[in-house]
Amino acid sequence: MKIFIDTANLDEIKEIASWGILDGVTTNPTLLSREVERTGKKPEAILKKICSMVEGPVTAEVTSKEAKGIVSEGKKLKRIADNICIKVPMCKEGLIAIRELRNEDIMTNTTLVFSANQALLVAKAGTNFVSPFIGRMDDVGNEGMGIVDQIVTIFDNYCIETEVVVASVRHPMHIVEAALIGADVCTVPYNVILKMLNHPLTDVGIERFLKDWSKIK
Ligand code: G3P
Repeated sequence: MKIFIDTANLDEIKEIASWGILDGVTTNPTLLSREVERTGKKPEAILKKICSMVEGPVTAEVTSKEAKGIVSEGKKLKRIADNICIKVPMCKEGLIAIRELRNEDIMTNTTLVFSANQALLVAKAGTNFVSPFIGRMDDVGNEGMGIVDQIVTIFDNYCIETEVVVASVRHPMHIVEAALIGADVCTVPYNVILKMLNHPLTDVGIERFLKDWSKIK
């Protein structure tokens, strides 16, 4: 399973990229505006910098609601770097835009997906990635991971090439569950990536080995 980081924070991306485990980055208007406020840099400059830090896809989200606007915004964003992937919201106009962007060989990631039917529609429109929002479904009392399971099964049944990106991840168990289901990608916030790294028994084990070793030094 590929691991993307779900942030626009340049320091966080730099640190996780240095571990050699990062396959891509997802941003959205909330995350990008946070980084604009933090750094004073322009959104395009932040995206360009992110694209230079990772080889994999970097998603940049459009804000237009009409297909025409989504396509022209997508084309403009694509000029930032080759690895830009256009994040398009799930909606009728989004479907039309996804097909047009596909025809122009521009990668898309469809966001704000909350059902298997929505995922099937955008896959048929030709999106490269589909992003079900797990945490937000859990928040309203639905089992988010159940939708991921359905989407992965449906895509397997029909050899659909669209990759399933588990998004709105809140804790490390979401990542394990996504991998067990066979999702292609999990996009994970920085603080949750840090939690993947640690285990109390690892810390205790290292300390004990070093203590025993120091006895013969
Ligand atoms: O990738 C989607 C993500 O940015 C949304 O996460 O935590 O705002 O539901 P969250």
